[in-house]
Amino acid sequence: MNSTLPNPTCPAQPGDPERRFWLVATGAAGGVAAVATAIPFVSTLAPSERAKAAGGPVEVDISGIPPGGMKTVEWRGKPVWVVRRTPEMLASLQGHDGELVDPQSAVEQQPAYAKNVARAIKPEVFVAIGICTHLGCSPSEVPKGTANPSLPADWPGGFFCPCHGSTFDGAGRVYKNKPAPTNLEIPPHRYASDTRILIGDDAAA
Ligand code: FES
Repeated sequence: MNSTLPNPTCPAQPGDPERRFWLVATGAAGGVAAVATAIPFVSTLAPSERAKAAGGPVEVDISGIPPGGMKTVEWRGKPVWVVRRTPEMLASLQGHDGELVDPQSAVEQQPAYAKNVARAIKPEVFVAIGICTHLGCSPSEVPKGTANPSLPADWPGGFFCPCHGSTFDGAGRVYKNKPAPTNLEIPPHRYASDTRILIGDDAAA
């Protein structure tokens, strides 16, 4: 992605001063996005999921997601990420609370059962709505150790929004001094079995 071009996923207009500052100041968003594409990715938007996207729960088969991989489904017109965390990804959630706006998830951006460090029902499976809480762009996953001036030092891995530079850790918790005000949203969900998750239905949770 050329960082000098408008990002079609960004609601902000090219003349937006905040956005312009971001592009001039970093000039590096494209590099981060390119790195992010190296992450295992299982693309799915099955017809049944599209049919349910207007409102009903969406069932996700997580059995094929490799360690460290991500699957994206659509629910109510929004992208929902399902990430299979590795032990290293889980460990990376520790040690940077002081850099986060809301490390304890005090703001209700998640159901009660996801109000924990991993922001998940099962720590090894992260489910989140992939929409930046600033102006609604879609962040990219960026692996641990990526060196880029757009990212916090000692980057533990997480998500980067190219529109205005908001950064989120691997649990979708937003870093300070970035425009996004809150953590990423965790949708209601529950496990229908060990390998199937219902997005949008937590009645039995
Ligand atoms: S939409 Fe502005 S930082 Fe994500």
